[in-house]
Amino acid sequence: MDESAVIRDVEGTARALAGLAQGATLGIVLGSGLSRFVDTIDEPRGLPFARVPNMPIARVHGHEGAFVRGRLGATEVLIMQGRVHLYEGHPVDATVRGVRAMRLLGVETFVLTNAAGGIRDDLEPGDLLAIEDHLNLTGIDPGVGLGDSVLGPRFPDLTGIWDPGLRRKLLEVAAAAELRITAGVYAGRLGPSYETPAEVRMLRTFGADAVGMSTVLEAIALRRMGAKLVGISCITNRAAGREGAVLDHADVQDRAAEAGDRLHRLLRAFAEAPA
Ligand code: HPA
Repeated sequence: MDESAVIRDVEGTARALAGLAQGATLGIVLGSGLSRFVDTIDEPRGLPFARVPNMPIARVHGHEGAFVRGRLGATEVLIMQGRVHLYEGHPVDATVRGVRAMRLLGVETFVLTNAAGGIRDDLEPGDLLAIEDHLNLTGIDPGVGLGDSVLGPRFPDLTGIWDPGLRRKLLEVAAAAELRITAGVYAGRLGPSYETPAEVRMLRTFGADAVGMSTVLEAIALRRMGAKLVGISCITNRAAGREGAVLDHADVQDRAAEAGDRLHRLLRAFAEAPA
């Protein structure tokens, strides 16, 4: 990967987003089946990925693909409605270009959401999980080919990548809103196949509580750039091999949409709570 091309492409995306992003402090990425959150924000203004230079078009049903600017209480938010996945065949820098552009434009804090399979015994469809750490099992890192640059240091420390203070705030606002949520480790795989039962047993041994096909690359790219991160997985199914596991993309989206109302309330409460 040619570093100057990677930076040029991000800067091109950022230039097109500058007007929409101005003054936004909180970024939110909405995962599979969770995109309807944009209908609940105040004064939404959208820009489809298709109209933003260098943004790959999301090709997965359920990922509409737009940047949406709006307000949640006093907080100015910029939302990525839909994301770009590595399994769609895009290069890694394309999958993280949108969030990098948002960060270049001054967005400081990001909430990354996703749909995930529940590995831990107590996790059931509809549950919410605050990401306390992750396993990057995609086989790649968004820093490959990059040195020290505007996109961050070559060798970023990932300890505390999921900001402990922000996670505490998330768990507090969830408790105050009587929304059930636990914390756990998210394993990010390449996909697009779901796991085999043997892989799920391996992941459990590795310390993973939930598994999905996104989020970890964005998290690493944003951490390199000094952003603060909080992550929420929406458990849409029991992971493969657990009794009653159903692995089907349409089902995953339906379950995510069902949990959507609680996720929307949590996102709003988090955004509106004082920093
Ligand atoms: N595995 C991987 N990705 C997922 C799953 C799963 O079980 N559910 C939703 N996304």
